[in-house]
Amino acid sequence: MSRGAQIRLDHVGISFGDAQIVSNVNLDIRPGEFVCLLGPSGCGKSTLLNAIAGFLPVSGGIAVGGTAVTEPGRDRGVVFQSAEVLFPWLTIRENVEYGLKLAGVPAPERRRKADHYVAMVGLSHAADKFPKQLSGGMRQRAQIARVLINEPSVVLMDEPFGALDAQTREVLQTELDRIWRATGCTIVFVTHDIWEAILLADRVVVITAGPRAGIKTIEPISLAHPRDAASPECLELFRRLRDDIGEEVQRALEQQGLKQEEPAT
Ligand SMILES: Nc1ncnc2c1ncn2[C@@H]1O[C@H](COP(=O)(O)OP(=O)(O)OP(=O)(O)O)[C@@H](O)[C@H]1O
Ligand SMILES: [Mg+2]
Repeated sequence: MSRGAQIRLDHVGISFGDAQIVSNVNLDIRPGEFVCLLGPSGCGKSTLLNAIAGFLPVSGGIAVGGTAVTEPGRDRGVVFQSAEVLFPWLTIRENVEYGLKLAGVPAPERRRKADHYVAMVGLSHAADKFPKQLSGGMRQRAQIARVLINEPSVVLMDEPFGALDAQTREVLQTELDRIWRATGCTIVFVTHDIWEAILLADRVVVITAGPRAGIKTIEPISLAHPRDAASPECLELFRRLRDDIGEEVQRALEQQGLKQEEPAT
């Protein structure tokens, strides 16, 4: 079953006042594809994601499922870095149900769906708990369930595991990989972590240092899932991506007047 939508970025430019942050980005993302955006801090990854979500006006065009994006919509779910978006006064099940309640879905149906998505993210045992009773990783799973229950055709994730410890991040990466395949949605995932991108993505898009950030390289990854980080293919990909991003990080640091010292040999 595939319910993912195509995303088309056509000569996309994004400015805040006089500052042009993103310039001339062209990218076609296939229905059901998993695309990671990698790039130096401050280059415009979140800005690009927010534009696809419909939070920001752009020049050029963005279309999702063939329809121009002009505002946020239920076809696009957004998962943020922090799970503070959960309502502290609602249980996990109620948080997950919330979108359907707003949409007027009758209680028995939304309860059934909430239980389904809570189970999908491995939180059935915590459905009646409140967010503050959960660990950071569990709260992040709840946030993902809250987005998935709307059955979006596109899920936009901005460093969703960035605040988690390495072990929890690994568990959630594996779970996201499974959930992605179970739902068939299209995912655009922003990360700083090269390994995270290699383990998850169909394509890794490297963004140049701003201002006027654009696409530097696109690395397709056709290796079967789950991927073995120790395989020669993954190690070679890691080296290539590290070099590509390293150049951009260096440029970004220079622009900020922070030149990185060459490592001593
Ligand atoms: N609302 C805003 N108003 C003005 N400038 C903004 C706004 N949002 C972002 N910017 C600027 O746009 C640039 C890109 O920011 P963005 O948050 O997209 O970077 P990023 O690649 O996501 O960085 P990080 O990896 O640190 O999250 C930065 O220079 C930032 O200062
Ligand atoms: Mg960001």
